[in-house]
Amino acid sequence: MDAHLIQLDQDHPGFRDPAYRVRRDAIARLALSHRAGEPPPQVAYLPEEHQVWSGVLEALAPLHARYACRSFLEGWPKLQFEPARIPQLSEVSARLKQLTGFSYEPVAGLMSPREFMERLAARTFLATQYMRHPSAPLYTPEPDVIHELVGHAPSLSDPRYARVNALFGEATAAVTDDATIQELIRTYWFCLEFGLVREGGEVKAVGAGLLSSFGELGRFERESTLLPFELQRIAQTPFDPTQYQATLFVAPSEEALLGSLTGWLEGLASG
Ligand SMILES: [Fe+2]
Repeated sequence: MDAHLIQLDQDHPGFRDPAYRVRRDAIARLALSHRAGEPPPQVAYLPEEHQVWSGVLEALAPLHARYACRSFLEGWPKLQFEPARIPQLSEVSARLKQLTGFSYEPVAGLMSPREFMERLAARTFLATQYMRHPSAPLYTPEPDVIHELVGHAPSLSDPRYARVNALFGEATAAVTDDATIQELIRTYWFCLEFGLVREGGEVKAVGAGLLSSFGELGRFERESTLLPFELQRIAQTPFDPTQYQATLFVAPSEEALLGSLTGWLEGLASG
């Protein structure tokens, strides 16, 4: 019936909103017109999109104070996010480039996890630029600009996490069998998207999926099964990106998490 560039599921909050569908397509076209090596294109965000950004940041602030790990809280002020304005990917990218050599590159929509991970080797982080639908500001079924910036930028500003991200890319490029690629994808998911650590007797979030989701951050402690961090097990655990995560893994500390990941990934990357 329609020919949208970006397909949305029928249960997507924006599925029946023609203006939102047009907007998504326009932002996707911007990404498609991007040339590698150039800064991400400027998006002229609408007042209602800035409002969603403000509302989500406001809702997340007390949850970050309660649940965000130390490195996230240290990285946050370096990014200089303003509560009333969605930052351009290009601005945050320039800041990260100075801090850790990472830069954002725009993508039109979902890509394969393998493609995403391979680009990390050159410290390129593929990111979307659209905003979630305003009818469901605290929830998004797909990664949007809030997820990419609020969730990932603080850790990409930390040289230790930047290195681990790059190592995921190097390991993905070095291994050839699909089973190991799957292990890498699952480990990225359970550590860098949904990882938890202990900090001063409390459980804190490290993962970008948790730190950018009001819903997940508010519920995981009560409703997810928290298991001790065990790399072998994590690598074998499947996940469903469309649901709240039923199982999460808690590392003894950020240092322990980074240490285990670095050792494993370096081994894979060097063949
Ligand atoms: Fe992510």
